[in-house]
Amino acid sequence: MITASGLTKTFKTDKKKPPFTAVENLNLEVHEGEVFGILGPNGAGKTTTVRMLTSLIGITSGTAVVNGFQVGKQDQQIRQTVGILTETPGMYERLSAEKNLSIYASLYGVADVKGTVEKYLRMLGLWDRRFDEAGSFSKGMRQKLAIARSMLHEPKILFLDEPTSGLDPEASHLVRDFIEELKASGRTIILCTHNLDEADRLCDRLAIFKTRLIALDTPANLRKHLYGRRVAFHLSRVEEKYKTVITDLPFVKDLQQVDKSLLVGLDKPETENPVILRKLVEAGAEIQFVGELRHSLEDIYLRMIHAEKE
Ligand SMILES: Nc1ncnc2c1ncn2[C@@H]1O[C@H](COP(=O)(O)OP(=O)(O)O)[C@@H](O)[C@H]1O
Ligand SMILES: [Mg+2]
Repeated sequence: MITASGLTKTFKTDKKKPPFTAVENLNLEVHEGEVFGILGPNGAGKTTTVRMLTSLIGITSGTAVVNGFQVGKQDQQIRQTVGILTETPGMYERLSAEKNLSIYASLYGVADVKGTVEKYLRMLGLWDRRFDEAGSFSKGMRQKLAIARSMLHEPKILFLDEPTSGLDPEASHLVRDFIEELKASGRTIILCTHNLDEADRLCDRLAIFKTRLIALDTPANLRKHLYGRRVAFHLSRVEEKYKTVITDLPFVKDLQQVDKSLLVGLDKPETENPVILRKLVEAGAEIQFVGELRHSLEDIYLRMIHAEKE
C-alpha cells in the first residue's frame, strides 16, 4: 500500500546554518488493511513523514509510492487516494454537523453528498444530532467528526496524526473505538502517536521512530525480542525444592522469586509450561495461578529511545 525507501527531509531555516534533518533515510512498507503505528517523541518527524507521504510537502531525497502512485510525480492521484486527520483540525463551529460534512463532501466532489454524509453521521452515532452546531459537541465527538470528514471521499488510506492528543480519557476512548471500527472495515490506517497504550491496542505493526527508524515490528515481537518471555507460577507456599525442580530443567533460562510467585524465563512457554507444572505437582506444590508476564510497551520504548541517545 505504501513503500518508502531512503525517504529524507531536510529544512533550511537559516542561511548561515546547515540544513536541519527532520527525517533521515526512512525505509518502510505498509500493507493493505493494517493499522501501522508511527511512534515517537515530540519533534521526531512523524508529522513531516505524513506530509511527505500525502504529497503536502516535497521530498528532499528518496522515493515513496502510495497506493501505486509516485510521490512527487502523481501528487493529484495521491491526494484523491488518502484521507488525513491533521493535528489540529478546524470545524465550522456555528454550522451543523451535517452542514460541516456536506461542505467538505461537495469540495471533494463526492457523487452522492447526501447519502455519504448520512452514512457517516449514522456511523458516528450523530444522526439524531445532525442539526446541532459542531461547536456544541464534546471534544471526542468533534474529533470523530473530523475523522469522518477526512473519509468522505472514501480514501483507501487514512493518515491519523495524533488523533487523541489533547483529549481527556473519555474522549480518547470514543475516538479509539471509532478507529477500531474503521480498522474492521478493512482500511489501511497510519496512526502517528506518542501514546504507547494507544499504539499497543490499535496497531498491527509499529515503527519506533526518532528522525531515523529505530525498530519496526509487531508489538508482541518488540516485547519478545527485547526481553524474552517470562511466566509467573503463583504457589500457595514456596519451598526450596520447588525452585530446584524448575532450575534443573534444561530449557529454563532463569528464575526469580517474588513473594509466592516464581518468575521463570522461557523461550516456548506453550510447550514448557506443562512440563514445569507436572514437575511442581510431583514435588507437592499447590499451584494457584499461572500467567505470562507482559512487558509494557513503555518499557520497550524508553529503552529504545534511551539506547538511541547513547
Ligand atoms: N516547515 C518546517 N521548517 C523547519 N523545521 C520544521 C518544519 N516542519 C517541521 N520542522 C522541524 O522538524 C522536526 C520534526 O517535526 P514534526 O515532524 O512536526 O515532529 P512530530 O510530528 O514527530 O512531533 C521538528 O524539529 C520541527 O521543528
Ligand atoms: Mg506531529
